[in-house]
Amino acid sequence: MLRPLVIAPSILASDFAKLGEEVRAIDRAGADWVHLDVMDGHFVPNISFGPDVIKAMRPHSQKVFDTHLMIAPCDPYLEAFAKAGSDIITVHAEAGPHLHRSLQAIRALGKKAGVSLNPATPASAIEHVIDLLDLVLVMSVNPGFGGQKFIASALDKIRNVRALAAGRPIDIEVDGGVTAENAADIVAAGANALVAGSAVFKGGTEAAYQANISAIRQAGAGARGEAA
Ligand code: DX5
Ligand code: ZN
Repeated sequence: MLRPLVIAPSILASDFAKLGEEVRAIDRAGADWVHLDVMDGHFVPNISFGPDVIKAMRPHSQKVFDTHLMIAPCDPYLEAFAKAGSDIITVHAEAGPHLHRSLQAIRALGKKAGVSLNPATPASAIEHVIDLLDLVLVMSVNPGFGGQKFIASALDKIRNVRALAAGRPIDIEVDGGVTAENAADIVAAGANALVAGSAVFKGGTEAAYQANISAIRQAGAGARGEAA
C-alpha cells in the first residue's frame, strides 16, 4: 500500500545559466523526479519559467517531469505544459474557481493530475475532487520563493490528507523548506514525495547533489523502516 519514496529536486534552486547540465547532474545524482516550479508574477509574487524552457530541459533526462503550476488562470496553459513533456501537472486549489474542470483537463491530456494546497488551505479542499487526483502537493512554505523555512503546521495537514487519500493510489508530496533534518517527520506524517530545492543544490557540484539527495532519502527511508 505504501507509495514509493520519491526525492524531487526543484530546478528553481539550480543555476539557470546551465539548465540542461543541471538536469543531467541531478538525474545522475539520484533524483527520482525533476520538480519544475512555474511562477507567473500574479498568483505568486515571482516569475520563473514557462513551457518552452521545460521543453528545452526535456531531452536531458528520462525521469518524471513534475510540473508545479503557480499560475492563474491555469486552464489556457495546460496543453502547452503537457506538450512540453510534463508527466505530472499540479495546479493550485486557490488558482481558480473551477479546480474540478482543470483536473479533468489534465487527465484528458493524458497526464497525471495533482492539486496543491497553500499553507492556509485546509486538507478538505481535496474531498470532492479526490477521484481525479494522482497527487496532492502540500505546500510547507508560501509559494513563490525557494530557501524559506518549513511551516510546521504542514505536518498536521499531511496527516489529514493521508487520511482522506487512504486506500487510493495518490502520491502525497511536500514542498518548501524540506531538508535532511525534517524529512523523517514529514515522511512519518504520511508524505512519500519530497521536493527540495536549496537542500539539494547547496554545494553546487554533482557530488554535493548526490550527497544531499542521499541524506534526504536516508532520513525518509528510515522513517518508513526501509533501507535507503
Ligand atoms: C516554492 C516552490 C518550491 C521551492 C522549494 O514556491 O514551489 O518548489 O523551489 O525550495 P526550497 O526547498 O529551497 O524551499
Ligand atoms: Zn514547487
